[in-house]
Amino acid sequence: MSLAQAAERVAAEFEYKKDDVNRAVKEFIRQMDEGLEKQGQTMSQIPTYVTAVPNGTEEGLYMAVDLGGTNFRVCSIQLHGNSTFSLTQSKVAIPHELMVAKTSRELFAFLAKQIELFLKTHHGDHYHSHIERRQGAFGPPKDEEVFSLGFTFSFPVQQYGINKGTLIRWTKGFDIQDTIGKDVCALLQKEIDNLNLPVRVAALVNDTVGTLMARSYTSPGKTGTLLGAIFGTGTNGAYVEKLDKITKLKNMGADAGDVDNSTGEMIVNTEWGSFDNQLSVLPTTPYDNSLDAESNNPGVQMFEKRISGMFLGEILRRAIMSLVEDPNVPLFSDEDSSKNDMRSTTNFAHNSPLRNQWGLDTSFLSIASGDHSAGFKVTRQTLDRDYGVSAASAEDAEAVRLIASAIGKRAARLSAIAIAAIVIGTDKLQHPKDIATTDDTPVNEDEIVDVGVDGSLVEFYPNFEEYIREALREVPEIGVWGEKRIRIGIAKDGSGVGAALIALVADKAMKGESSFSRPAGFAGYVNSFISYINRGIRHM
Ligand code: BGC
Repeated sequence: MSLAQAAERVAAEFEYKKDDVNRAVKEFIRQMDEGLEKQGQTMSQIPTYVTAVPNGTEEGLYMAVDLGGTNFRVCSIQLHGNSTFSLTQSKVAIPHELMVAKTSRELFAFLAKQIELFLKTHHGDHYHSHIERRQGAFGPPKDEEVFSLGFTFSFPVQQYGINKGTLIRWTKGFDIQDTIGKDVCALLQKEIDNLNLPVRVAALVNDTVGTLMARSYTSPGKTGTLLGAIFGTGTNGAYVEKLDKITKLKNMGADAGDVDNSTGEMIVNTEWGSFDNQLSVLPTTPYDNSLDAESNNPGVQMFEKRISGMFLGEILRRAIMSLVEDPNVPLFSDEDSSKNDMRSTTNFAHNSPLRNQWGLDTSFLSIASGDHSAGFKVTRQTLDRDYGVSAASAEDAEAVRLIASAIGKRAARLSAIAIAAIVIGTDKLQHPKDIATTDDTPVNEDEIVDVGVDGSLVEFYPNFEEYIREALREVPEIGVWGEKRIRIGIAKDGSGVGAALIALVADKAMKGESSFSRPAGFAGYVNSFISYINRGIRHM
């Protein structure tokens, strides 16, 4: 079989057709509903208890940390009181041994240490005066001298309150058994206290909720945001749901925490990474199967394992290796590479990272899929420099590119399922004008359904949004007109800002500075986020 034919055969395995998309949208809506009714379903549909965000007039200095993938970010956010803020941040890669540590302590002590380092570097005066106070020179620290911190913790957590929640399971390569079932805020606070830091963990936030908050706060126009979604190392979404649809809240009893009924809505963290773990509608190739079987959490996060950055490189690596190992397919084995720049025989090194699990970074998909250079030079150079394939032929690169594009496109089409299901499930497209509108009718501001997204895939993978949109148009309940009404906007680093904003709300709630009874126009206090969406008013 020629290399081109073999690559086309593999690429075809990743096709996900219109009918498949439509079947999956229906199943997604069914699993969403199931998760709203009962605990412990494939889609967790976690109530977040978040019902308010600031209106942009607040002032103050807040902290946020973000643990959710490859990096740990620490930031401080100075809110200027006019919808603008300045952000100072530091980022550190999480050592792999801590992701799979024996005890929670090892990881959380590392996180606290990073917070200490950040404070010493960026808020030295504050830090040192706090330490002096602790040592008795100026009496005990006052409440306002303690930073309120929003903890973005992007793993499935059963939340019991604004700063309380127990870990359901780890995802994205983390695996510390000791943490399961423990309150992650308490674990972090303990290590912060051990270092005597002037920091109080005020809010626990999933990155999708932070993204939804930050996007809603900053998005242009009058429309509130429906959905915050991450397509990065992992994938997930949080959306605004009607309170009376979250029927399981009633049965959660004491676990349900305090539910604020005033707005009739609540933000729900779907944990859609686990959509269809039973694989009733998701596509499956031999590469997906072996990836899952050899992962540290087989059988779960099946949607995530087909979409997100942690996994796409590994799917591609397995597909490439299946061709390399097929004696009838000439991949990376060009004996007369006279057409190559280097004029040498292609060599596939024995120690190439492509031979090891997780050896291919997902960024390579973006490089290969977006390679328009003559003879796919950029792809060949990357194979040479990073992956031990020297003097790959243009045919090799083209084969790799074809498969990479098929994997990326499948991921985008799968992502569209989640967006479509949430837009349809929440009935957001219902509008009398729909019937009369034609394709080229401009969309009015009040007809827009806003979606905030973040993550390396949506940011860097070529045409990711376009592929999503193509699939959205193939869903009859959305169609061409509905797709036009869906605005997708990047909420860059929204999770950090969102977490700080929620910390602020939590902080004010703790100090009894409730926003809801303040007279209109009184600057500096929070509004109800949900009623704010209902009213469609933007405080920009
Ligand atoms: C986690 C989610 C998170 C998502 C994106 C998933 O693996 O389960 O909680 O929102 O990754 O970071």
